[in-house]
Amino acid sequence: MSERDIDLTAFLASLKDVLASRTDGNADAMVGRIYEKLQDIGEASEADGHLLPVCEYLTPAMDVIAEEGHPLSELAGRLHAVLPRLVWRARPGPAPNASTNFAESHANAMIVGPGGIEGRRDLWIGMSLLAPGTRYPDHDHAPPEVYLVLSPGRFLQGGGEWFSPGIGGVFYNPPGILHAMAADEDAPLLALWLLDVR
Ligand SMILES: [Fe+2]
Repeated sequence: MSERDIDLTAFLASLKDVLASRTDGNADAMVGRIYEKLQDIGEASEADGHLLPVCEYLTPAMDVIAEEGHPLSELAGRLHAVLPRLVWRARPGPAPNASTNFAESHANAMIVGPGGIEGRRDLWIGMSLLAPGTRYPDHDHAPPEVYLVLSPGRFLQGGGEWFSPGIGGVFYNPPGILHAMAADEDAPLLALWLLDVR
């Protein structure tokens, strides 16, 4: 078995610590399964990182959590260390209910999973960035998902009302639930997500 990249190892450990203090119930069980799987190491990517224009909002989106003494500052530092290797991509396919600026105002990056720093198919850990005033399309997927929100922003689950988890908020999307997110008008949205694919 090969060894996991040192920066990725540190990021995953910090993410685990943060989630452990913020999950309960289904989210907790799902995160447990993800970290079980992570005991096996996937394939290290040789790819170079790639930015999209919207990535100009990445640093501003992390300003608050990167501040010394913030509860998420360690995670921010670990995330910062892996950022140069991430490949940012636009979401393919239709975009129901997305804002008109969606195409050029969002990007997703896989950290662990297909196209990630560690390539594998059994789990996804990645993040989404939205420019201020951008609404992500309604979407659903079979795998359950846990979000860790790193910025202001609003989220939608099923037929519910928009809610604001706040910086450091964690929530669970059950398999198949329709969901969406939207950045506030005056701040970018940055959120990490974990999917337990199979
Ligand atoms: Fe999702």
